[in-house]
Amino acid sequence: GAPVKADISKIEPGQMVVVEWRGKPVYVVRRTPEQIDALSQLDGNLKDPSSAISKQPGYISGIGRAIKPEFLVVVGLCTHLGCAPAFRPEVGAADMGGDSWVGGFFCPCHGSKFDLAGRVFSGVPAPTNLEVPPYSFEDDNVLVVG
Ligand code: FES
Repeated sequence: GAPVKADISKIEPGQMVVVEWRGKPVYVVRRTPEQIDALSQLDGNLKDPSSAISKQPGYISGIGRAIKPEFLVVVGLCTHLGCAPAFRPEVGAADMGGDSWVGGFFCPCHGSKFDLAGRVFSGVPAPTNLEVPPYSFEDDNVLVVG
């Protein structure tokens, strides 16, 4: 399939847009500085905090799992059985896991939780972090997926 381009210039901080790529939803989140900072507090709650067992492109590194820390780009399919996790960025949603929840994605099918880097929490069915698709930036405003 051909690469897909998306204008990312109008995504507000803290918002997500969905780009379709090869029939899959790709979630693009513009993370706020606070959301980026919060990622470093989660390691003890995660199955694979440094993505040692989760597959991802070699050019992705760090806990943010991104080329640019501001932009998270992940395939929006749960690594358990493929449902679409919901974007739940709000801090403190008690039903999402209490104190350790600082926002991320919640899969409605069997309750898997992921942080705002797509990293899976412990104690949920999903085995690995959300997949990072191949992507690049054409310029400051244009994301290329594929
Ligand atoms: Fe997401 Fe099962 S498909 S938890």
